[in-house]
Amino acid sequence: MRAAGAPSIMRLILYSGKGGVGKTSISAATGLELARRGHRTLVMSVDPAHSLTDAFDLEKRLMDHEAGKLVSVSKNLWIQEVDVQEEIARHWESVYAYVSALLNVSGLEQTLAEELAIFPGMEEVSSLLYVNQYVRERTFDVILLDCAPTGESLRFVSIPTTLEWYMTKLFKLERRVAKMVRPMISTFASVPIPQEDYFENLQALHRKLAGIDRLMADPKVTTVRLVTNPEKVVIKETQRAFTYFCLFGLTVDAVIMNRILPTEIHDTFFDTWKNTQERWVQNIEEFFAPVPVWRVPLFEDEVLGIERLKRLGRELYGPRDPVRVYFQEAPYRFRKADGNYQLHLRLPFVSSDDIHLFKKQDELIIRVGGLKRHVSLPPRIARCEPLSARVRDGELIVIMGRTNGQRETKSEITAAT
Ligand SMILES: Nc1ncnc2c1ncn2[C@@H]1O[C@H](COP(=O)(O)OP(=O)(O)OP(=O)(O)O)[C@@H](O)[C@H]1O
Ligand SMILES: [Mg+2]
Repeated sequence: MRAAGAPSIMRLILYSGKGGVGKTSISAATGLELARRGHRTLVMSVDPAHSLTDAFDLEKRLMDHEAGKLVSVSKNLWIQEVDVQEEIARHWESVYAYVSALLNVSGLEQTLAEELAIFPGMEEVSSLLYVNQYVRERTFDVILLDCAPTGESLRFVSIPTTLEWYMTKLFKLERRVAKMVRPMISTFASVPIPQEDYFENLQALHRKLAGIDRLMADPKVTTVRLVTNPEKVVIKETQRAFTYFCLFGLTVDAVIMNRILPTEIHDTFFDTWKNTQERWVQNIEEFFAPVPVWRVPLFEDEVLGIERLKRLGRELYGPRDPVRVYFQEAPYRFRKADGNYQLHLRLPFVSSDDIHLFKKQDELIIRVGGLKRHVSLPPRIARCEPLSARVRDGELIVIMGRTNGQRETKSEITAAT
């Protein structure tokens, strides 16, 4: 039964951050808090090194279930740790067969080729397939994603747009080429050409994922909560993660600072630690404002089992309902000013030197460090070229305009301060 005041749309919340900061504990605690408030909640582990079952201390109970399935933890609460091997057999059969055949002819031994054919992204897509299915069938009110450490989480959120890009730009061409060359060279070529079922497999996956990119870019539905600790190296990584999530069009609606030493600790051993932490705890808002920062103390022991997780949930949320969106700003918007168009993209913590961009057909391609984002342009703006770009107050502003009738197909510019 849906609780009074529960949102009419479903929510998807990602918990991401550096390794070991407390993502799994906080996802599990949030799940319990949401379930207590009457929201039908799923906590799904997107980290191949699953530890959700351990956090709930469910090991014995789980033995009765098949790995990878939905497991009921308490009223209104389920967990799921996606099993890659099983998902590959179910969704990736032809793609997997082709990739392992390809690796095998390159001289790799069969078993190693099969291992390597589970390429990065398959796990993430398998989880996304579940998310999309649950959203379509309205199985839950809230899905919490306990993510892998930052790098992998970013790959996870980039998959829907990358797949969309691949399917619209490359897929048809590749399929046509394969169809043409297959009869000519398949008998003597040393490299296998993908068969039709490989393409059908990819197309079927694409159909099943349809809509997930829009869902993840909708700040009313999907938000990211960055978990961090009061230490320089961890906060630096949190800032980078913040930038990259913005680049991929996701909204960060809270930062959670976990493991803060409680004031009642008077052991002199911790004096320097307390000073260091205090500096970060005091100044954290300056880094992430206007996104709210929530604080959680270090507990006297590891956070294991339902009772401790519930306590963590109380410390973290107090009277707040975790389902709400606590900061909502569209990741990018277009504006018209002085006869030109402007693209505003939230990109905190980057300097202009880090940003390169160019336009290609109806897309603006923005590169920040090693990551790339394709922003598709509305038709009127797609006829313009990027004239200049600057970074101001954590926002990249790109001015787009017509260039005296000369249509360039590609122009690269670097942002200026
Ligand atoms: N506030 C806290 N007080 C005490 N222990 C904590 C706290 N938060 C997390 N822990 C403990 O720290 C350890 C790591 O936490 P957790 O597994 O949630 O981190 P994680 O970010 O999911 O790690 P990974 O990156 O490996 O997935 C666990 O043993 C957990 O019980
Ligand atoms: Mg974890």
